[in-house]
Amino acid sequence: MRAVIASGPGGPEVLSVGEVPDVAPAAGEVLVEVAATAVNRADTLQRQGFYPVPAGSSEIIGLECSGTIVELGAGVEGWAVGDEVCALLTGGGYAARVAVPAGQLMPVPEGVSLVDAACLPEVACTVWSNVFMVAALQPGERFLVHGGAGGIGTMAIQLATALSAKVFTTAGSAEKLAVCADLGADVTINYRDEDFVEVLKADGGADVILDNMGAKYLARNVDALATSGRLVIIGMQGGTKAELDISALLRKRGAVIATALRSRPPAEKAAICAEVVEHVWPLVAEGSVKPIVHTRLPLAEVAAAHQLMADSDHIGKIVLTL
Ligand SMILES: NC(=O)c1ccc[n+]([C@@H]2O[C@H](COP(=O)([O-])OP(=O)(O)OC[C@H]3O[C@@H](n4cnc5c(N)ncnc54)[C@H](OP(=O)(O)O)[C@@H]3O)[C@@H](O)[C@H]2O)c1
Repeated sequence: MRAVIASGPGGPEVLSVGEVPDVAPAAGEVLVEVAATAVNRADTLQRQGFYPVPAGSSEIIGLECSGTIVELGAGVEGWAVGDEVCALLTGGGYAARVAVPAGQLMPVPEGVSLVDAACLPEVACTVWSNVFMVAALQPGERFLVHGGAGGIGTMAIQLATALSAKVFTTAGSAEKLAVCADLGADVTINYRDEDFVEVLKADGGADVILDNMGAKYLARNVDALATSGRLVIIGMQGGTKAELDISALLRKRGAVIATALRSRPPAEKAAICAEVVEHVWPLVAEGSVKPIVHTRLPLAEVAAAHQLMADSDHIGKIVLTL
């Protein structure tokens, strides 16, 4: 089958489309004919050789897709050949076909095209699981998401707004901040010339922070937390090693949590997908949460798509179509 092949660890130029052995669904899995996939930061790390593939998962890059079910593995119930779906993957999305544990399938939300549905699973599952299942953001609480114009950020702003939080966000340009405001952010902060800690502190502090920066923002994020605030770290764009004055966290009775979606066992992923279908898909169907697509490129332009993410000029998601 057609799939993206990496000639070795390196820059976007190592990626090209070639032929690989076809896949078959194991028991409990379905085979999806892929219509589209989307680029995630983890894909760029995997390409560079910095993200070891979890044991047993496909070596092919790709953490999400949309498409049509073409075969059911033994024991799969509730899905049929011909169903249009989107899926959270542990790998293998940049390919013509992918085998997916049935629990990680979701229906295409009402009002979304099959292609654009490819860019929803990773951001919807990451934001829902971290902000709502782990950090338990409540209506009226103050929520800060860093990198508001990225894939995760655009979903986090929309979901937190729809669920009545007060949303603060950071981004690196006026254009990106304007998009964040359009999506519902109440307070936008240009991290290049404003201090998010001061902005949050002036408003009582953040009850929940969703952080993509890791080490670089650790101490300042803790400083920006309100009493009983929860900092959830999901990215390491600002490095992995930092020092923290524990007394600052202690005084606030704060929590620092870090999670990775990809390494969670299938049963946990299935539970997250079920919650996303229950809580997020109705918001998509009513139009209060939308897929934010920066561009749709054919799979053959995968190297250009990875370069686009490296340049970080995109807003929302980069979709690859088959
Ligand atoms: N743990 C997990 O399970 C999980 C799952 C999915 C994603 N993630 C992580 O979540 C992060 C976001 O992913 P994504 O797909 O949304 O990537 P993305 O679309 O590239 O978004 C990242 C954003 O960060 C912004 N940024 C860069 N430096 C910043 C700074 N100093 N302060 C604030 N924002 C800054 C970038 O643009 P500007 O600088 O121009 O504003 C960009 O919009 C990544 O680190 C990814 O690895 C983790």
